[in-house]
Amino acid sequence: MSETRGIRRQIKDLIREYYSGTKSKTKFVPGRTKLPLVVPSYDWQEVCDAIDCLLDGQVTMGERVKQFESIFADYIGTRFATMVNSGSSANLLALSVLTNPLLENPMKPGDEVITPAVTWATTVFPIINCGLVPVLVDVDLETFNMNTEEIRKAITDKTRAIMPVHLLGNPCEMDTIMDIATRYDLYVIEDACEAHGAEFGGRRVGSFGDFATFSFFFSHHLSTIEGGIVLTDSEELAGLAKSLRTFGWVRDLTDKDRIAQQYESIDPRYLFVNIGYNFRPTEMQGAFGIQQIKKLDRFIQIRQENAEFWTESLRRHGNYLLLHTERENTKHVWFACPVTVKADAPFTRKELVDFLEKKGVETRPIMSGNFDEQPAMRLFPYRKVGDLPNSRFIMRNSFFFGNHPGIASEERQAIVDYFSEFMRRY
Ligand SMILES: Cc1ncc(COP(=O)(O)O)c(C=O)c1O
Repeated sequence: MSETRGIRRQIKDLIREYYSGTKSKTKFVPGRTKLPLVVPSYDWQEVCDAIDCLLDGQVTMGERVKQFESIFADYIGTRFATMVNSGSSANLLALSVLTNPLLENPMKPGDEVITPAVTWATTVFPIINCGLVPVLVDVDLETFNMNTEEIRKAITDKTRAIMPVHLLGNPCEMDTIMDIATRYDLYVIEDACEAHGAEFGGRRVGSFGDFATFSFFFSHHLSTIEGGIVLTDSEELAGLAKSLRTFGWVRDLTDKDRIAQQYESIDPRYLFVNIGYNFRPTEMQGAFGIQQIKKLDRFIQIRQENAEFWTESLRRHGNYLLLHTERENTKHVWFACPVTVKADAPFTRKELVDFLEKKGVETRPIMSGNFDEQPAMRLFPYRKVGDLPNSRFIMRNSFFFGNHPGIASEERQAIVDYFSEFMRRY
C-alpha cells in the first residue's frame, strides 16, 4: 500500500516537473510562429487530479461532479446545477425538461422558440430535436447579440420561449429580454456556453433565465475538455434535469422513495418514470472543473486585457474595421476577438483573413454564421423575422482570431503588427 502511495507521489512529481518544463516557450518568430485559436488551459493540477480518479477507480459520475456542480452554481448565482457531457447536451437537456410531460406547463410540439440567427448549430438543433420551431431573429452588428426589437416582432400566440445567446462572451440585454418574457409569459433559456463570468448589470449571465447552459469544451473559459452544465433556480426543473440526464430513472430525485413506494414490484434502482438520455460526465471532468474554476477569474482577466489591447490598437483602422467594445453596465469576457470588415472597405474579409493565416494567425467565421443559410435548415420547419441583414453581413464580413490565456505579449503585439502591415496597402 505504502509502495503504491510512493509510486503515485512519484508520478505526480514527474507530471509537475513535466509541466514546469513546458512553461519555457519556444522563441516567437514573427510571421512564422503559429498563433492558434486555442491552447490547453489545464496544467499539472488538473492532470494529477484526473490521474487520482483513474488510479482510485472513481471514474464514473460521483462526488467530484457533485462538488463541481455546487461550486459552479454558487459562482454563477443559481441554486441548482446539473453537469453533462457537453454544452450541446446541456441545451438539449434544458429544452427536453421544458417539453417534458411531467412538467406542469410544458411546451408542446409546434410551439415557437425565439433565438438569434447567428449562433452555434447546437443552440438551434435542440429546439428542433424537441419538436419545437426555431424563430431566427437578427442580431446587432456592434454586439452580435439578438436585437430586442426583433424579439418583439417575432412574438406570436405560438411563442413559448426565448433562447438568448451571449455570443463570444458579450452579455445580451437581459433586462429587456426578461421584461419581454414576463410580459408574454415565456420561458427563458440562456445559452451562456461562451460567457462564463460575463455580467449584465452586475449580475452574472446564466442567473437570469429559467435555465442557463454553459459549455466546458476545450476552447472555453473553463474547460473540462468536453463538458457542459445546466443551471436553474427551480427545484422542479433541476429534479427533471437530473433525472433526464441519466436515462430518466429516479435515483437522483429527492422524492425517489415516495415514487418507489408506488411501484413496489420494480427495483427502485431501475425504476423509470420518465424518458431520458445518457448525458453523464465522468469524474475526471468533475476533477478538471474543480481545478479550473479556481483559475477562471484570472483566465477571464487575461482575455479581457488581451481584448482591450487589441481593440485599442486596432481602432486606428476603424475606417475599415468594426470592432466590439465592452458596453456600459456589462462585463464582456471575450471568448474571442471579433473583427468585421466594413462594407466600403477597399479589401474583402477573405483578403484580410488569407493574409493573417499566412502569417500564422488562425481565424474562424463567427460560429455557424447566419443559420438561415445553413442547408440543415431546409430539412425542418422554422421561421425567421425579416431578411436578417446583419446576420447575412456577419456571415460574409466578420471573423475572429483566438483569445486565450496562453497568449504572450509579443504574440499579442504581433497580431496588431500584422494588421498594420496589411493596412499599409490601403
Ligand atoms: C453558443 C454555443 N452554444 C452551444 C455550444 C455547444 O457546446 P459544446 O461544444 O460543448 O457541445 C457552443 C459550443 O461552443 C456554443 O458556442
